[in-house]
Amino acid sequence: MATEHHPITPRRVSFDWRETPLHWIPDEPTATHVINVLHLLLPAGERWFVKVFKEALPLVRDPELLKDVKGFMGQEATHSVQHSYVLDHLAHQKLDTGPYTRQVDFLFDVLLGERPPFGLPVSEREWLRFRLSVIAAVEQFTAVLGDWVLRADALDAARPDPVMLDLLRWHGAEEVEHRSVAFDMYQHCGGDEPGRYARRVLGMAITAPILTYLWGRGAAYLIRHDPRLAKRLRYTLRHHKRAVDKGLLPTWGELGAAIPRYLRRSYHPSQEGSLSRAVAYLAASPAASRGRAPGGAVAS
Ligand SMILES: [Fe+2]
Ligand SMILES: [Fe+2]
Repeated sequence: MATEHHPITPRRVSFDWRETPLHWIPDEPTATHVINVLHLLLPAGERWFVKVFKEALPLVRDPELLKDVKGFMGQEATHSVQHSYVLDHLAHQKLDTGPYTRQVDFLFDVLLGERPPFGLPVSEREWLRFRLSVIAAVEQFTAVLGDWVLRADALDAARPDPVMLDLLRWHGAEEVEHRSVAFDMYQHCGGDEPGRYARRVLGMAITAPILTYLWGRGAAYLIRHDPRLAKRLRYTLRHHKRAVDKGLLPTWGELGAAIPRYLRRSYHPSQEGSLSRAVAYLAASPAASRGRAPGGAVAS
């Protein structure tokens, strides 16, 4: 369990996308679309987190963890919905993401659904534990990305659309806030050692390459289908690196280092990022402030 007891509560937020341009980081289409991949993956991905956690709820014997898990589910459900509104906005700007997101839906709903795919001979309990290990591994990256976006001063300097930056930082801050919950849930439900640790390693070994692949394909898809670019630009590692060098994207080193950290036997995600920075942002976030008045936080 986490050493700190920071309560995890979903917040009511609202974003007005009407003024957000397609290239919300001006003159930086590669950085814009690499970050936009979040909107492609998260609506289905975070909905899936909630579904898997719902399946696992009866296994939770610790009331403190149960509270955290319910707060986590509320936060992820809200993230999923808010990112799906961005997809509507992209469609409105003539960037249809349907062909890509249908594949993402297939991944989460069919390949990682309630039953193992292709009739794999895996017990119900093992399949659930495996999916919990995948969620814990994904949450390692969302915590790292969340902390990065809160620190990314170069993004502010690039004059981005303030609504998109607020969405990313509100979401990133909640990812830092709940960074330990999926890990604690996995440890709680993951059975005895050494199988539990081996499955944690397996979850990361599968998650890291698939996430990298989906991200690259997603960025390439968005750039290829962006009507303003009209196929004049391709997604390349050179363009990606240029955006990294400007501080508009996290470095490969920052992302890669999250893996060996996660694989340490003694690891706990409470050491990731800065909770105080996250909480400070959430107190100031325009979208979260709008949601606070009157009603306060959403009940979990
Ligand atoms: Fe999230
Ligand atoms: Fe999360």
